[in-house]
Amino acid sequence: MNTLTKRFMPISLAILLACMVFQLSGCATTSAHPRDRQSIAGKTYVITGASSGLGRGVAMELAANGANVVLAARRTAVLEEVAAQARAAGGTPLVVTTDVSNADDVQSLAQETVARFGRIDVWINNAAVGAIGPFWDIPLDDQAKLIDINLKGVIYGSHAALHQFRAQGFGTLVNIGSVDSEVPHAYQASYSASKAAVLSLGRTLNEELRLSGNKNITVATVMPWAVDTPFWTHTANYSGRSPTFPLMDDPQKVVDAIIGISLHPKEELAVGWKAKASYAGHHIMPDVTERFTGNVAHKSEIETGPPAPPTSGALYEPMPSGTTVSGGMRERSSNRASQGRKNERDTAQENARPARDQQ
Ligand SMILES: NC(=O)c1ccc[n+]([C@@H]2O[C@H](COP(=O)([O-])OP(=O)(O)OC[C@H]3O[C@@H](n4cnc5c(N)ncnc54)[C@H](OP(=O)(O)O)[C@@H]3O)[C@@H](O)[C@H]2O)c1
Repeated sequence: MNTLTKRFMPISLAILLACMVFQLSGCATTSAHPRDRQSIAGKTYVITGASSGLGRGVAMELAANGANVVLAARRTAVLEEVAAQARAAGGTPLVVTTDVSNADDVQSLAQETVARFGRIDVWINNAAVGAIGPFWDIPLDDQAKLIDINLKGVIYGSHAALHQFRAQGFGTLVNIGSVDSEVPHAYQASYSASKAAVLSLGRTLNEELRLSGNKNITVATVMPWAVDTPFWTHTANYSGRSPTFPLMDDPQKVVDAIIGISLHPKEELAVGWKAKASYAGHHIMPDVTERFTGNVAHKSEIETGPPAPPTSGALYEPMPSGTTVSGGMRERSSNRASQGRKNERDTAQENARPARDQQ
């Protein structure tokens, strides 16, 4: 542990704990109550990034409650599999193969949805890819492609959704940001920048909607903490290590929050106590929170984790792996930890043996 970490750790923890208590007492995570779910039936939801992780989880949950789910991503075969499950669960799915970094694809997504279902109640801009590593080691092309997907893709989706919402007079746009929208994340510079821009976009659009008298249209930004999804398999990675992150959240918690906010729109939602504490901590003491977060990122993404070769992940082409809602990261980390403890025990026994043998 370096001097900086030692100096800031206790104070940061105290602040984050205080913020946590404040946040937890002030507002619970928005999540869909079973009663609310009745109002999902018959609604039309567009979900980008529906082939894995949070998007797939949201799509399945909505389908099980009778929604028309429009499934968008690049992996058509995987979307067809999600659609089959959605149909079996009682939903009415439509698959539209979409690359969100292509404005024409996103336009077609909106048109095909309206042609099939007549309206769009909720549009969820969820598709994104990460890029981990020191800023100067991540190729410029990868950083540009990340912005094409994570920011331009959200702008294309927001534009298409708001055109339809204004024509029909209502609608909810849910943009998936991240706790990184508020608190910069060292070694994920372009990703953090893209997510900060998504938050700023939502705030700006809400002002324009207010000023133009569109009372029944809301833009919500959801900001999760690190979540155990295939995101960590799909991310571009130039850190030299397999990513690990402490205290990852269960995807179901975020799925519930996304569905909750689609039914009870509000401008911003940090999901769960860790995201809430970081968000509040950053408002109260930005420098301390940034240093604390940076130190945690350095430890978890640069210093620990098994070695890994450089990869552009799913930035340019979708990857065949990682099609489930959960990413299995927590299980792998816990297996690594117990293997590490076993190795330590074995080494200690091995070291003790010659001493015993000499007696
Ligand atoms: N997991 C976390 O720790 C975490 C934390 C905070 C926020 N988030 C956010 O949560 C959202 C969902 O991510 P996830 O965790 O569920 O990861 P994920 O499992 O990797 O899901 C990402 C989805 O985006 C799609 N996608 C990627 N590039 C695309 C493109 N160019 N066009 C269309 N679809 C594309 C992927 O499908 P295809 O490859 O089939 O196109 C996939 O369905 C993202 O916005 C992410 O930034 C995640």
